[in-house]
Amino acid sequence: MPVSNQEISEVLRSFDMIPPEDLAAISTRFYQHLFNRAPELRAMFREDLSGQSMKFMSTLKTIVVALKDPDVLHAELKPLGEGHANLGVVAGHFAPMGEALIDTFQESLGPEFTPEMQNAWRSAYLEISNEMIERGGISGGC
Ligand code: HEM
Repeated sequence: MPVSNQEISEVLRSFDMIPPEDLAAISTRFYQHLFNRAPELRAMFREDLSGQSMKFMSTLKTIVVALKDPDVLHAELKPLGEGHANLGVVAGHFAPMGEALIDTFQESLGPEFTPEMQNAWRSAYLEISNEMIERGGISGGC
């Protein structure tokens, strides 16, 4: 089922609940959660992730906003997907990243991260992943 406008609003609301001064620390926590869940992915990333972390979170937010407009979404995700295919990313890598995102928001927002928000995140992330995989020509497997 495609992500609804209500779900997009919930995801954006969760982003807005993070104080801007906490974003860098939260981005770093995201990678820690990712590598806890999938230690084999660590070697794909550079040693110092401080710049990379912010880029991931800010790009993700831009993409979530773009979910409302399929043309903008496709324009964003094709080059991003192709870049990731070139980095050796495969479809099986997306699931642990989605779980790490949920871990991160859960940890930062605590009970304010409602079940509705979590479902909205899952739905939005699934759509983003599928589009990135399809448009970027990312292969399957793990
Ligand atoms: C929602 C999904 C994702 C988004 C929005 C995203 C976003 C980004 C962005 C913005 C960059 C930086 C690109 C640049 O420097 O120009 C990047 C790099 C990278 N991404 Fe992703 N990504 C996603 C999924 C994944 C997945 C599933 C993997 C699998 C492991 C992955 C692995 C990488 C790697 C290895 C790099 C390069 C890191 C480095 O140079 O150290 N990404 N990603």
